[in-house]
Amino acid sequence: MRILSGIQPSGTIHIGNYFGMMKPAMELSKKGEAFLFIADYHALTVLPEPEKLRERVRDVAVDFIACGLTEETLFFKQSDILSIPEFTWILSCVTPMGLLERCHSYKDKLAHGFSPNHGLFAYPVLMAADILIYKSNIVPVGKDQKQHVEVARDIAQRFNNKYGNILVMPESTIRDDVAIVPGTDGQKMSKTYGNTIELFGNEKEIRKKIMGIVTDSKPLEAPKEPEKCPVFALYKLFASESQAAAMAENYRKGGYGYGHAKKELFDVFWEYFRPFRTRREELLKDMGYVDSFLKKGAQKAGEVAGKTLKEVRESVGL
Ligand code: ADP
Ligand code: TRP
Repeated sequence: MRILSGIQPSGTIHIGNYFGMMKPAMELSKKGEAFLFIADYHALTVLPEPEKLRERVRDVAVDFIACGLTEETLFFKQSDILSIPEFTWILSCVTPMGLLERCHSYKDKLAHGFSPNHGLFAYPVLMAADILIYKSNIVPVGKDQKQHVEVARDIAQRFNNKYGNILVMPESTIRDDVAIVPGTDGQKMSKTYGNTIELFGNEKEIRKKIMGIVTDSKPLEAPKEPEKCPVFALYKLFASESQAAAMAENYRKGGYGYGHAKKELFDVFWEYFRPFRTRREELLKDMGYVDSFLKKGAQKAGEVAGKTLKEVRESVGL
């Protein structure tokens, strides 16, 4: 079974990204042959700043490897796979305009003030190429990307109807078993809301953010409800079961303030990511290793992609 997912190089990662995407993505490599790439061609649709793009791609690569990604997963940059743009073009020619016009993400981007370029419009075709070129079976994505996987299936079907049974139908699996990580204001943690806690932030700043998490105003002595508190929700992500049960008990019996809980949260957070932090420092001094990690992935993924493209070219008459 082949599992594939792409990640946007969208800047500093936060603990929502880690528990919502990175950790589940890494766990998937145990279930099959995993391909994971940094979607830098996709990023070009919204990030026309070369230095920023380069920096973000580098950051995602370092952060993933620091968080324990191993070479068991083929990890690479999308733009290192030279078959992708050609395959995208071929797929474009079997993609009806109406299919793309219906895509929510394009309409959302326009609503958020992006000017409508062709890349943004054709984004789902590029994504279909990513998925179909590796003959992926499973594509784990967040809810917002489900429609794009459906578009990829539709394109694959049209291609196969015209040219023979070459492409494999992918299945999307939605990561809704993954809990939504709350931010410092209790809403979903997201860069857009400015409520994030960064994975690799500076100690003082993170402490300040954690101490500033919004709670209700129950006094220290009052009993409190752990299920309703973002501090507890975050603590549970890092703590062992017995630690979490102990904190819940403290909440319920009273005499335990949110300040105490926040201090405990900071401590488990800091310990949890300590080895990753150390690894990241090492990697930043050895970017050659990061580059070679990505190159190795690209080499293997490129072979698979090249094989599919060869079949596709022949079948369409090129
Ligand atoms: P942001 O909302 O900060 O811009 P992205 O949209 O770039 O984050 O998300 C990247 C990945 O991280 C997606 O797969 C998304 O599902 C996951 N993710 C982001 N925020 C959370 C969260 N608060 N809880 C769970 N998963 C999240
Ligand atoms: N569009 C996806 C996102 O924004 C990233 C992506 C690009 C992707 N190509 C993909 C995800 C192929 C899964 C499969 O998150």
